[in-house]
Amino acid sequence: MVSEVLEGLSIRPGGTYVDATLGMGGHTEAMLSRCPEVKLVLGLDCDAEVIKYAKARLGPLANKVRFVCSNFIHLPDVLSSEGIGQVDGILMDLGLSSFQLETSGRGFSFFREEPLDMRMDSLGTVTAANMVNRLSVKRLTELIWTYGQERWAKRIARHIYDRRKRTPILTSTDLAEVIAHAIPRRYHPRRIHPATRTFQAIRIAVNRELDNLKEALGSFSSCLRPGGRLCIISFHSLEDRLVKTAFREDVRLEVLTKKPMAPGPDEIRHNVRARSAKLRIAQRIDNDQTTRNQSHDNEQTILQEQYNFGVDSVTSQ
Ligand SMILES: C[S@@+](CC[C@H](N)C(=O)[O-])C[C@H]1O[C@@H](n2cnc3c(N)ncnc32)[C@H](O)[C@@H]1O
Repeated sequence: MVSEVLEGLSIRPGGTYVDATLGMGGHTEAMLSRCPEVKLVLGLDCDAEVIKYAKARLGPLANKVRFVCSNFIHLPDVLSSEGIGQVDGILMDLGLSSFQLETSGRGFSFFREEPLDMRMDSLGTVTAANMVNRLSVKRLTELIWTYGQERWAKRIARHIYDRRKRTPILTSTDLAEVIAHAIPRRYHPRRIHPATRTFQAIRIAVNRELDNLKEALGSFSSCLRPGGRLCIISFHSLEDRLVKTAFREDVRLEVLTKKPMAPGPDEIRHNVRARSAKLRIAQRIDNDQTTRNQSHDNEQTILQEQYNFGVDSVTSQ
């Protein structure tokens, strides 16, 4: 959804933008190619290796990018330490980059035998191996059910427990095998690997992805100048729900996408992983408008309270 994102960010000459999930720099490259007169892109990623990769890939375009290795929850601090004020647009393209999935060697893929790590940020303290070998069956079940929406969560957790009593589960293929055995063969999904949902769940938990998103959503609108845009691409229904709610409840934002945008069939044909992508866009409203909205909300509350009071007094008579 590159062109939708570029439209959504309303890229303009002289503007300053944040790519809060730089990844391999694909979106940043598109922004700078579409509008070479952009003043600056702040490219943030929590994965130091990914940043090195993006820097090399962007070549001469990298002159317009300030690369920062940080969790996006720290964006307000990063902006102030970099001497950048409010910005014209922020992009978040959540989840995993192709580099992490295919090349990082950190066990994100069930197709390659790699250490079961799954940390995007190598400074994170908990690995996937820690989780699968230490969490209780109850906690594992909850995690796989909630983040993976996997109906076989309980059986998978039990199989993990039985297997780790014999030998610890240390590689991605080890874990994938345990999961495939836990799900009765006739119930194996036809279009995805049986371990897909469980791997997604464990990755989300290891990287605290929903907590990070929630925290970022609380502060990003204050990083935008009035008129600035916030574009968020999510891949999980729980992420999309967080974005939808935060956009609706933030008085500084006007929601520009009543319904999320989705990739067309062509894009899905080229990139299967895009099939569950959802893009939501919001615009920072100006400060006066925010105050007007807030006072409008207060007025509404007062009116509501008066109304309730009236009803109560009528009933109590
Ligand atoms: C889907 S990729 C982004 C791809 C990118 N838009 C491109 O075109 O190449 C998501 C990236 O976000 C990064 N990421 C995920 N959570 C993050 C967080 N809390 N803070 C900073 N970066 C994060 C990941 O390390 C990954 O590189």
